[in-house]
Amino acid sequence: MKYSTFPVQKITTSKLSDIDFANLKFGRDFSDHMLVADFKDGSWSTAQIMPYQPLAFSPAASVFHYGQAIFEGLKAHKNDAGEVFIFRADENLKRMNHSALRMCMPQIPESIFLDGLRQLVELDKDWIPVGSGMSLYLRPFMIADDPFLGVKPSSSYKFMIITSPSASYYSGAVKVKIETNYSRAAAGGIGSAKAAGNYAASLLPAKEAQEAGFDQLIWTDAKNHEYLEESGTMNLMLVKGNTLLTPPLDSKTILPGITRKSIIQLAKDWGYEVLEQRISVSELIEGIKDGSIEELFGVGTAATIAPISTVGYNEEKLQLSDCKNWKFSTKVKQYLEDLKTGKVEDTRNWIEIL
Ligand code: COI
Repeated sequence: MKYSTFPVQKITTSKLSDIDFANLKFGRDFSDHMLVADFKDGSWSTAQIMPYQPLAFSPAASVFHYGQAIFEGLKAHKNDAGEVFIFRADENLKRMNHSALRMCMPQIPESIFLDGLRQLVELDKDWIPVGSGMSLYLRPFMIADDPFLGVKPSSSYKFMIITSPSASYYSGAVKVKIETNYSRAAAGGIGSAKAAGNYAASLLPAKEAQEAGFDQLIWTDAKNHEYLEESGTMNLMLVKGNTLLTPPLDSKTILPGITRKSIIQLAKDWGYEVLEQRISVSELIEGIKDGSIEELFGVGTAATIAPISTVGYNEEKLQLSDCKNWKFSTKVKQYLEDLKTGKVEDTRNWIEIL
């Protein structure tokens, strides 16, 4: 594919040989190059690709004080033949600009975001690991760097893309606790933006859930803790017979996930009924107890699908059946993996081959 290119300052010595590709984790190692663009006086500078390196900021940079910081996550895959694939990057651009609007930050031009991703991935394509669950995780982000302590939208910003050869976020089924004390997002807040602050706010509740023996938690609505919202950093889905259910986005407290959107489309194409509707905590508990909820899972870029094996609610721990026998989530996980590595035909125009 043809795309605009940006000036490149290449590394002199690659770090590639230092990486233990057989034992990759998620988001721990970083490739040789990164992309940087600056926003000042109302416009973006030409992006530049340079060696991955630490940057210097003023201690007064507004991101450190008032938290204007947003990010995205997507993946590049490589198949055995060495072809490189990127999944629905245009959707990440749209969501980043939605987050930017809510956080009072400038819009990112398509060329910086999409062409920058393409050029960076092409340049560091030797860093894309091959194999099931393996990818080069791409992390575009924007921060406010105006050195000013007045509370106002920053007048300057930095947009960057870094990339990380990664394994999947979770290795198996997860145990989650229904959170009825803390909230991730309230109506009118920033829950539908991929804003760093949402993740900061989740750390203490997640730590407490882990101390109680769970991997993550299921967020419920901030008002009454009555309806399910998200699962950890993922959207939540469940299967009952021929129906896929997931909480709706209209409250603007839930992140509009690209994996969520893709799975909804696939379920419809495969003849499932899809209901984007509120799901109460009691409906979940009863459905697990009476066996009508056959599958329960989180969906997101980093994990793709994370089956849930145990749900903790008050003092109870409810077990789901063995996820190896789950029909829909097993099929959708395999399908997405095959699609992202060119093994099945891309009939929906979701894949870009570099
Ligand atoms: C995702 O899976 O989409 C995420 O946002 C997870 C990331 C925060 C590690």
